[in-house]
Amino acid sequence: MSLPQNLLSVVYLVAGVLFILSLSGLSKQETARKGNTYGVLGMALAVIATAFDARVDLSAWVLGGAVVGGLIGAGLASRVVMTAMPQLVALLHSFVGLSAVLVGVSTALHPAVEVTSPLVHGVEVWLDVSIGALTFTGSVVAWGKLDGRISGAPMLLPGRHQLNLGAVVLGAVLMVPFLIWPHHEVGLIALFTMIVVAGALGWHLVMAIGGADMPVVVSLLNSYSGWTAAAAGFMLGNDALIVTGALVGSSGFILSVIMCRAMNRSIWNVVFGGFGTDDSPSSHAEPGEDLSHLVTETSPEDLAEALADAGSVIIVPGYGMAVARAQHVVEEMTRILRGRGVNVRYAIHPVAGRLPGHMNVLLAEAGVPYDIVLELDELEHDVPDTDVVLVIGANDIVNPSAQTDPGSPIYGMPVLEAWKAGQVVVFKRSLGTGYAGVANPLFFHENTDMLFGDAADTVGRLVAALRNT
Ligand code: TAP
Repeated sequence: MSLPQNLLSVVYLVAGVLFILSLSGLSKQETARKGNTYGVLGMALAVIATAFDARVDLSAWVLGGAVVGGLIGAGLASRVVMTAMPQLVALLHSFVGLSAVLVGVSTALHPAVEVTSPLVHGVEVWLDVSIGALTFTGSVVAWGKLDGRISGAPMLLPGRHQLNLGAVVLGAVLMVPFLIWPHHEVGLIALFTMIVVAGALGWHLVMAIGGADMPVVVSLLNSYSGWTAAAAGFMLGNDALIVTGALVGSSGFILSVIMCRAMNRSIWNVVFGGFGTDDSPSSHAEPGEDLSHLVTETSPEDLAEALADAGSVIIVPGYGMAVARAQHVVEEMTRILRGRGVNVRYAIHPVAGRLPGHMNVLLAEAGVPYDIVLELDELEHDVPDTDVVLVIGANDIVNPSAQTDPGSPIYGMPVLEAWKAGQVVVFKRSLGTGYAGVANPLFFHENTDMLFGDAADTVGRLVAALRNT
């Protein structure tokens, strides 16, 4: 059984509307669950409708592939821990890129759709395959960097911008023989050569990005994967792919721009792979140096007493809170303090943790009220009037060297100026560095105390001490 083309278009339109509702729902914590549901419904509709497209041959291979792929995806997604989510997202983007390349090549080898303009169709295949190849290798490198399998340091080859430009020009030149002889050996050789060139470009662009810019890269690759899907939609004459691809491509790009603004980075720096990155060695921490005698340590019991006199507290959660899964005890601490009339608020840095919205998701899961979870710029002016700032498993996002050390890889990134508060307490296990690998002078500040240990344990002990005071 197959659906008439008109009905198919209507179903795709409904799916498109559901995707728009999904994006709108995902923009607020209160409506995020609903947004997710709309997205899942829209995708289910689009996939089912496509299966009943008269042009689709539902062979055992296609069905088997969908079932096996779906099972692997469901297994991976249900097992992945929250801290490994960015790697999974990067890996999923690589699949989009790879499938775009495979579908594009198969379309070039066996043209299936009725083509009104071979020239336009040729350009669509070219765009689909080139963006797909770039997205595939770029996403694999992003996965490797986020998973710690590839060094997070930027690989800055001499003349790298010329190399990138050369690859783009070569890709454009190779398009000419493909458009002239799309089904001839010469055209296909040009297509396969371009896949290698675009793949090398994707690899090189992401290798040149430093650790601190990786969040933007993942969001940018998300955008590329959307444009790949849109190009595939034009190539295959599939409206759902065009709409979905354009939505993913544009929203991914907007998110990248927002994140760049939040990190005081130029979007072109990231698009062109480390453009403007300082080639000089950065101020990384000296390994093996024992500086523990230079810091002031505190205990959960002493901190509980200090908090008894506090009128206002700002909590800055970071990646370590996610690792320790400390959000539930942090919520318990918040409840106790608020019950005593303390003004407790959370400052969420745009790149805290390892994925956009990472901290918001954890705090929502633990039941922290949305109205006390604020963006960095909503709270930064209140810090000097705050009695205590509790930095829980965060490091780079409260590092003053982002303002003072031009050699630092995080220089220019906005940070919460915790040191301006009456007292700062940092919950972490050691004086070790964070994601960007830079030492943090905040730990040695005169009004900073360190509370060493796993955050779930130290905050848990603080909660017990608070109950006893
Ligand atoms: P980080 O700078 O990575 O610092 C996290 C700190 O948590 C570490 O210094 C670590 O110190 C501590 N920690 C780890 N496990 C802990 C545990 N069980 N208990 C207590 N502390 C623990 O995190 P951040 O401040 O959230 O900054 C985020 C960084 O990640 C930025 O550089 C950002 O650019 C990057 N990044 C962000 C994203 C997104 S989209 N958010 C994606 C990729 C990368 P100890 O080892 O001493 O405990």
